[in-house]
Amino acid sequence: MTKHKKLKLGAMIHGVGGGWADWRHPDALPDASVNFGFYKEQAQIAEAGKFDFAFIADSVSINEKSSPHYINRFEPLTILSALAAVTDHIGLVATLTASYSEPFTVARQFASLDHISHGRAGWNVVTSWLSGSADNYSKTEHPSHETRYRLAKEHLEVVQGLWDSWEDDAFVRNKETGEFFDKSKLHTLNHKGEFFSVKGPLNIARSKQGQPVIFQAGTSDDGRNFAAQKADAIFAGHENIEEAKAYYKDLKRRVVAFGRSADDVSILPGIGPIVGRTEEEAERKFQQKLNLVNIEDAIISLGRPFNDHDFSVYPLDEPFPDLGDLGNNSQQGGSQKIKRIAKEGNLTLRQVALRLATPRSTFVGTPEKVADTIQQWIEEEASDGFIVSSAIPGGLKDFVELVVPILQERGLYRSEYDQDTLRGNLGLEVPVNRNTKAKAGITV
Ligand SMILES: Cc1cc2nc3c(=O)[nH]c(=O)nc-3n(C[C@H](O)[C@H](O)[C@H](O)COP(=O)(O)O)c2cc1C
Repeated sequence: MTKHKKLKLGAMIHGVGGGWADWRHPDALPDASVNFGFYKEQAQIAEAGKFDFAFIADSVSINEKSSPHYINRFEPLTILSALAAVTDHIGLVATLTASYSEPFTVARQFASLDHISHGRAGWNVVTSWLSGSADNYSKTEHPSHETRYRLAKEHLEVVQGLWDSWEDDAFVRNKETGEFFDKSKLHTLNHKGEFFSVKGPLNIARSKQGQPVIFQAGTSDDGRNFAAQKADAIFAGHENIEEAKAYYKDLKRRVVAFGRSADDVSILPGIGPIVGRTEEEAERKFQQKLNLVNIEDAIISLGRPFNDHDFSVYPLDEPFPDLGDLGNNSQQGGSQKIKRIAKEGNLTLRQVALRLATPRSTFVGTPEKVADTIQQWIEEEASDGFIVSSAIPGGLKDFVELVVPILQERGLYRSEYDQDTLRGNLGLEVPVNRNTKAKAGITV
């Protein structure tokens, strides 16, 4: 691995977990998703592990089939604003959907978090896959997959334009002369596009890191192009290293095709390491998680990427049903992958549901084994780092106490923070304000 390319780590703080039954684990805090003490503890553990950032996922529609964390949880920017006050270095990244928000509000919210945290904010721009989202935002229909990504691109461009409303030295605040700001350094966006009409300027200045960092997590073709063109970091989900390598290669190729450098974008697959002091201990912890899953719950979970499709209507032990285009307007990448796995393996519905509900990750084992696997993924260009979630209660703590020191000893990971912004942690430049650039005659 080249010297400049340090591993990047984010911590997904996920309340009672991403799975259906995680909250029933004997050590789980069953109200974790709405427990500030839990979030504070997790963020501080991640900061003790010198993580680049903490991440809060989100969606804006629930029903009785949504998993426990989704039905009762904090709004991401609110919880991150509170976490900003109890942390110092770790980046604070929130999901917010472009399909159901106004760019002016989003720009204000993230700029505010960026100031409150002294330059540690990041936005995970998603498009929302659940059609029920439309019903919560006074819309008659959920936009098509392709429209959602077109809209997200314009939305993000408006937000980034608004963030540059004020040049960095615009606020003079001279009590003697009475000049509060320099009028020549205030810029009005005047955006009129296909989806949005936003005049500006934004009523908040840029922060210490210039602009919040942009994350993305689409896996479809449109999602990959959006990420390759616009994101600083990308979340992904893979079953194994071969799949991760293929994704990595494809994404970096797209990044270069958009005129960017391959190193401008970090690819961060999600992992849920289960670490034991011995192989047996790790295996025991994994089995304990497996034992919580039953087929009924696995069938409901399987429906999620397909807009909560009801799979209970199909026979369990017959070949996976032919679903046609189902899923293409929800989680397109995820649903297509499930259909492919079923077809390639000639699997039954039961086999597919259980395989997805209880994935056998390669990140289960002793601290050395997990560190070896991480090193392998980085060295073989399967990823630039990882977004780590707690697959079991205490998972993040185990990772920080047992795996991070090995990564540090091997020189793969920082031992101390040497920066105090999210851009600094990720090795990203502070972008020069586009209006300052334009004045200097530099094309934006
Ligand atoms: C680590 C990780 C975190 C994600 N977080 C969110 C999230 O908070 N909200 C969301 O709507 N999608 C999130 N996604 C993306 C979805 O899982 C899914 O991939 C996306 O909605 C589908 O996009 P596509 O239609 O381009 O495939 C995340 C994905 C990963 C891998």
